[in-house]
Amino acid sequence: MTGKIFTYPGFTILQGDCMERLKEIEDNSIDAIFADPPYFLSNGGISVQSGKQVCVNKGEWDKGGTPEYIYNFNRQWLALCRPKLKDNGTIWISGTHHNIHVVMRCLQELGYKVLNTITWQKSDPPPNLSCKYFNFSTELIIWARKHEKKTHKFNYEKMKQLNGGSQMTDVWRIPAVGLWEKQQGKHPTQKPLRLLYRIILASTNEGDTILDPFSGSGTTGIAGNLLGRQFIGIEQEAEFVQLSLRRREVLKDEKTRKKLCDKMRESPQETTVLVNHMREDDRHLAMQTGFTYMRAGDSKGSLLVKQGFERLGYVCLHTNGNNPRLFKLAKKGFQIWTAESLREKGFSAENAPYYAVMRFDATKAIPFDQPINLHKRNYTTVAQIYPLSNFIEIK
Ligand SMILES: C[S@@+](CC[C@H](N)C(=O)[O-])C[C@H]1O[C@@H](n2cnc3c(N)ncnc32)[C@H](O)[C@@H]1O
Repeated sequence: MTGKIFTYPGFTILQGDCMERLKEIEDNSIDAIFADPPYFLSNGGISVQSGKQVCVNKGEWDKGGTPEYIYNFNRQWLALCRPKLKDNGTIWISGTHHNIHVVMRCLQELGYKVLNTITWQKSDPPPNLSCKYFNFSTELIIWARKHEKKTHKFNYEKMKQLNGGSQMTDVWRIPAVGLWEKQQGKHPTQKPLRLLYRIILASTNEGDTILDPFSGSGTTGIAGNLLGRQFIGIEQEAEFVQLSLRRREVLKDEKTRKKLCDKMRESPQETTVLVNHMREDDRHLAMQTGFTYMRAGDSKGSLLVKQGFERLGYVCLHTNGNNPRLFKLAKKGFQIWTAESLREKGFSAENAPYYAVMRFDATKAIPFDQPINLHKRNYTTVAQIYPLSNFIEIK
């Protein structure tokens, strides 16, 4: 190999032009490629960032050329990438209308087979200042495989699990990159870790190798390493290579790693779990009858309705943090019962006039992949909502 190489275990960055450095990567060695090439957007337009008007110019690397230049650029790097993929490997390319149609044409000309075009819908887009267009709130991500005929890797079940048990669609609602992901510095077009989490989970397994030929701040590598994948990135700007290395360095700290991992896995589409404390005798009765209840209103122990309530799919019953058991909720939503109605069923219900009641499938307790320590929380008796991945590992 020639040129600068920076490494951490499972994390390699080749500094330089990907048109040259891609040639150094072994053929048939890559399981998946994520590429976020220049969108060629930097032509003096304006946008909004943190409430302030800013120029959209990202850097020299993003300045548009002639249509021929943009076509040749995309065709060249896509041609260099294809032989690097294993036969069941896939490539993901993000873009907007400025470049994505050219990318699609090149993929088809080069013998890739297009699998999906994902619409990434940003849940928090900045306003459009010109007021001459609909507000831009999406980016497109083409997913293609190496061969027309040979099949590809797709973790269908994991995507279904992430989507609360129903098929994941090609519209992904994920917020733009957050401040928590910019602690080591900024890149003008940094992608959110949550987006890469889904891409990596869908198309690779633990131990697989992912390549990013325009790696920028190293988002693909950070998400990849958090998920136990190997990463090779190529980036031409020294400043962004250094930023990637700073982002990788902090993963050495186990606490930071865990925090980032939890944040990354917080998916706005993920199914959630109602964690509900019940008295020991009531909990046993709940597990026989399939009813669980919480006090309604703001009394101690009532459910604090917050984001995620609309995606509740499971209930975890415990008594003061002990004997947690996970069950699937039978229906969405809840009913309000009087204390008398609950007492008629044999429950103690004696401290409030009304209760929120939910039904679950008591015939099957679902095993957890990871033990959950409810004692750590100060208020074990308050009903709370947690992501399903806190209980069942989606890796
Ligand atoms: C759209 S950004 C990628 C951002 C990245 N996904 C992230 O999350 O930080 C494109 C990056 O490609 C780099 N770049 C542009 N042309 C390149 C080339 N020919 N070879 C290598 N890197 C290039 C730019 O410096 C820029 O950092």
